[in-house]
Amino acid sequence: MKQPEIDWSNLSFSYLKTDFNVRCTYKDGKWGEIEVSDSEYIPLHIAASCLHYGQEAFEGLKAFRGKDGKVRVFRMEENARRFIRSAEGLKMQPMPEEIFCEMVRKVVKLNERFIPPYGTGASLYIRPLEIGISPRVGVSPASEYLVIMLVTPVGPYFKEGFKPTKVCISREYDRVAPKGTGSIKAGGNYGASLVAGEKAHELGYSVMLYLDPKEKKYIDECGAANFFGIKGNSYVTPASESILPSITNKSLRQLAKDMGMTVEERHVPLEELASFEEIAACGTAAVCSPVSEIDDLDTGDKYIISATGEAGPVTTALYNKIRAIQYGEEPDTHGWCEVI
Ligand code: PLP
Ligand code: COI
Repeated sequence: MKQPEIDWSNLSFSYLKTDFNVRCTYKDGKWGEIEVSDSEYIPLHIAASCLHYGQEAFEGLKAFRGKDGKVRVFRMEENARRFIRSAEGLKMQPMPEEIFCEMVRKVVKLNERFIPPYGTGASLYIRPLEIGISPRVGVSPASEYLVIMLVTPVGPYFKEGFKPTKVCISREYDRVAPKGTGSIKAGGNYGASLVAGEKAHELGYSVMLYLDPKEKKYIDECGAANFFGIKGNSYVTPASESILPSITNKSLRQLAKDMGMTVEERHVPLEELASFEEIAACGTAAVCSPVSEIDDLDTGDKYIISATGEAGPVTTALYNKIRAIQYGEEPDTHGWCEVI
């Protein structure tokens, strides 16, 4: 197997062409066979419901080359279940968990030479997506669906890596509506976040930290990632209807408990930011990305979380622990990884 010429240790979070993607179509009331393609394109009807009415949802998970040379995929059943919930939330046909997992195994195996070597800090990002492909001009759900899984080798989501970044708050922007699609992974949520995200970048921040869209009193999402704060022996993370239930956050909550910490899932009032010793964004792409400062663009308030500009000890310990499990350096006591 010829290794591609890639500078694995300096990968960013972006698309690199790999060898194959896998596809599966729902048609005539059933899912077809898993197909393998080497094309980066899809033939699509010009009136497809995904193009006109946003019938699109996606997922994100990773495969890691371990210390022992084995390939581990992290918690794919959780992604399969969330993919089902996302499909249901957009009136799309949900893909059964078994087919989802089979597609993940297949696409990873087929692109094995693109799984970054152990020790480079990189991983293979797996991106499943589902689209409605039937032509629709009236607003109604498609009857045919296509699921595609592509992979691409990635490095850290933020160019700073594990170095803390500054984020900002603005009441001018909502990511989602209070009873909207925030808790599912609809592509439309991300389209709707681009103006706010670019505004944050223009002003020198890594992301926009969103307040809850109903009352604008509580912390919601941190860009395309969940928020957590550390206070004494507590791991605090927002309970909210409008955030995506992050699988990374779920895992970190478990690891925090394993470390003897208390886990609080509750509303996090904006004012409480001042009392956290550490704050980070967490997600598949972000892993744990520490936050050094939060600037409220409307009030001028500044919350300095890390005066030294370094990640705090608890965030560092959680980051090291989850990475060690993913790379097979420590026992996977919760059964989170599948070796494929
Ligand atoms: N929140 C949003 C809006 C996201 O896009 C993601 C990424 O998937 C997350 C949170 C983190 O979720 P997970 O840890 O399951 O990747
Ligand atoms: C992820 O963490 O997998 C995400 O989906 C975040 C972003 C790349 C959309």
